[in-house]
Amino acid sequence: MQKNAKIIVIGNEKGGTGKTTLTMNLIIAILEKGFAVSSIDIDGRQGTLTKYINNRSNFAKSNNIKLEIPNHHAIIPTLAEEITVDKIAQDIENLKTKISELKRTSDVIIIDTPGSDNHLSKTALLIADMLITPLNDSLLDLDVLADVDVKKKEILKTSHYSEKLWDIRKERALINKKALDWIVLKNRVLHFNSKNKKLMDKLLGDLSKRIGFAYIEGLGERTIYKELFLDGLTVQDMKKAGVKLPMTTSHLNARREVRNLINNIIS
Ligand SMILES: Nc1ncnc2c1ncn2[C@@H]1O[C@H](COP(=O)(O)OP(=O)(O)OP(=O)(O)O)[C@@H](O)[C@H]1O
Ligand SMILES: [Mg+2]
Repeated sequence: MQKNAKIIVIGNEKGGTGKTTLTMNLIIAILEKGFAVSSIDIDGRQGTLTKYINNRSNFAKSNNIKLEIPNHHAIIPTLAEEITVDKIAQDIENLKTKISELKRTSDVIIIDTPGSDNHLSKTALLIADMLITPLNDSLLDLDVLADVDVKKKEILKTSHYSEKLWDIRKERALINKKALDWIVLKNRVLHFNSKNKKLMDKLLGDLSKRIGFAYIEGLGERTIYKELFLDGLTVQDMKKAGVKLPMTTSHLNARREVRNLINNIIS
């Protein structure tokens, strides 16, 4: 039977906030639930997600084990210095064609985006059902959503990214596209209760009402999220892949936090 995939974009115009790490963990956890997952790397020039998935295929092959692999595609956008109106239109067409093809054969399509604005990210946001924005657990990273007065604990004004999303939501309403669900989560959360953590939570709570996003628990700061990249693995498949690491409380907590996340995303 023909499917009608839910489209999830992982986006934040800031670099290094954990987009690709989160994308890979979501892909594998959703595959494990038995859903047909496709993935698109529109950060195709950097290609970190594509490398992560290739590492996974190679690991499975060389260890002769079966691991879930998404139906993956990389889209390589035209270089900024070579860009023309026609090339932009062609890039956008390539992405739209790929999405509509995958939509019919997948339950979920997950799209990883670059840490900077480009024409493909906007196209993905116009089509998507959900945007997930990971933020590093630091007051410094709040600026992607708004300027804040840390001393007064107040929001001064919304950011360029929040304004851009507002415009995208208006554009979607004009073409009768259903509202975009926006989830913001903290990444690399430190496991102690600092004054900054409380302030960050307060400001994110205020911002969620003002800008219109749901704010949920994200991933903790854990070495395990970094060290599985070369083998293309995630915390969900450590047992199956026979990873020779002692299963610590941190590993168990990592698996739990990814599963909690999935429950908030896939109903
Ligand atoms: N929860 C985490 N705990 C520990 N390290 C993490 C965590 N999340 C991400 N990292 C590490 O932070 C770095 C940046 O992560 P990642 O590549 O996922 O970010 P990104 O937003 O995709 O970056 P870019 O904008 O360049 O695409 C990587 O070295 C990754 O291993
Ligand atoms: Mg990335």
